[in-house]
Amino acid sequence: MSKKLVSMKVNGQTVEAAVEPRTLLVHFLREQLQLTGAHIGCETSHCGACTVDIDGRSVKACTHLAVQCDGAEVVTVEGLAQKGVLHAVQEGFYKEHGLQCGFCTPGMLMRAYRFLQENPNPTEEEIRAGMSGNLCRCTGYQNIVKAVQYAAAKLQQPAEQAA
Ligand code: FES
Ligand code: FES
Repeated sequence: MSKKLVSMKVNGQTVEAAVEPRTLLVHFLREQLQLTGAHIGCETSHCGACTVDIDGRSVKACTHLAVQCDGAEVVTVEGLAQKGVLHAVQEGFYKEHGLQCGFCTPGMLMRAYRFLQENPNPTEEEIRAGMSGNLCRCTGYQNIVKAVQYAAAKLQQPAEQAA
């Protein structure tokens, strides 16, 4: 199958690569770019383990072809921490024990990252609804909700207090 050249920004860096038209974004990220944070759980858009951010929206990377992302801005979990400082959602999952095995965590973090930009001051119910496309088999979700609440509070703080 003839390959297509794609160009996209991934975690702030421009990436150009030749991909087969059938290559899923999640495979492109993991196998061609070695960004293995996006996990593959179901490959049928149910679990959310592969969630990344594309042009300001949460997207399950198993539902997109890499060629569909030509020209897009993609953020993966590897792009959340800046200069060694965890993003508030990462800190929240760490502080509130929002994970056990960690398999769902990259997708949870990426969904929480976008969700809190969509709704910076959510209720618990809104958090549960906003995160409902991401499944976890371990935590029972309570600590995931707490982690998102922690991150929401941290993101509301003025920059000097949040540091
Ligand atoms: S692997 Fe993409 S939603 Fe499950
Ligand atoms: S922490 Fe194990 S699947 Fe979520």
